[in-house]
Amino acid sequence: MFDTFSQVGDLVAAIQHRWHHTPAAALILGSGLGGLADRIDNTVAIDYSDLPHLPQSTTIGHRGRFVCGTLGGVDVIAMQGRFHGYEGHSIEQVALPVRVMSGLGAELLVVSNAAGGLNPQYRVGEVMVIDDHINLMFCNPLVGANDPRLGPRWPDMCCPYDRALADQAQSISRTSDIVCHRGVYVGMLGPTYETRAEYRMVRRMGGDVVGMSTVPEVIVAVQLGMRVLGLSTITNACSPDQLGKTTGEQVVAAAATASEELRAIVEGVLQSPSTASST
Ligand code: HPA
Repeated sequence: MFDTFSQVGDLVAAIQHRWHHTPAAALILGSGLGGLADRIDNTVAIDYSDLPHLPQSTTIGHRGRFVCGTLGGVDVIAMQGRFHGYEGHSIEQVALPVRVMSGLGAELLVVSNAAGGLNPQYRVGEVMVIDDHINLMFCNPLVGANDPRLGPRWPDMCCPYDRALADQAQSISRTSDIVCHRGVYVGMLGPTYETRAEYRMVRRMGGDVVGMSTVPEVIVAVQLGMRVLGLSTITNACSPDQLGKTTGEQVVAAAATASEELRAIVEGVLQSPSTASST
């Protein structure tokens, strides 16, 4: 019944065997954003396939390994490639690495993704700090028996994304001339991109961007009490009345164009994560 706890223990031990540091932060690098891992120094890379209990990453633009090391002098563990529900993994498996990175000591989670822009003011290649999310995946990684060693049964979700970190990310963007919006991420299961009617629906619901990840990992991070910074790169414009075709290759390529901006924001925040929200 409480298998997850022992799986986390096995994974933590296997990583600690190869990398002897306590990460200050955990990073999840989404589609096309794995290039950020190249900025990590003193790296120890561990393929998911060399670790127990983890599924394999099957998505283009996702390398499938942990990259451990220092980013701007700060100890981090990064997932170069993540798992998605649409790959057929259970939603609990999708979120398992967050439990592992928290088990290694990371108290802060930076999660990045590629997303379609619903807000008509957003342009491809721009960045959005996630202010909040809507879970339209129709599943939740915390469904099932609750193991209190992993966190509370009913985690509060009034503020899953840390306000102080989001403010800081926006202020770093302003100083670095990076266009950085703040808005709501809508998580869909995928793997299909949305129909025009679905894009209309999620926009009316209050979404600014839409994607197929992030929500499960953030829910688990909140249950673990981690501070979360979420960053979306806009990879395609979801204008229902003039919709062009979207392909995975196009999304990965568009995401890669913002990797320098993302690096600047993430490195800036990690240098000294703010605890004071200005809102
Ligand atoms: N929809 C869902 N997921 C996505 C999109 C989209 O338009 N773009 C990138 N990921």
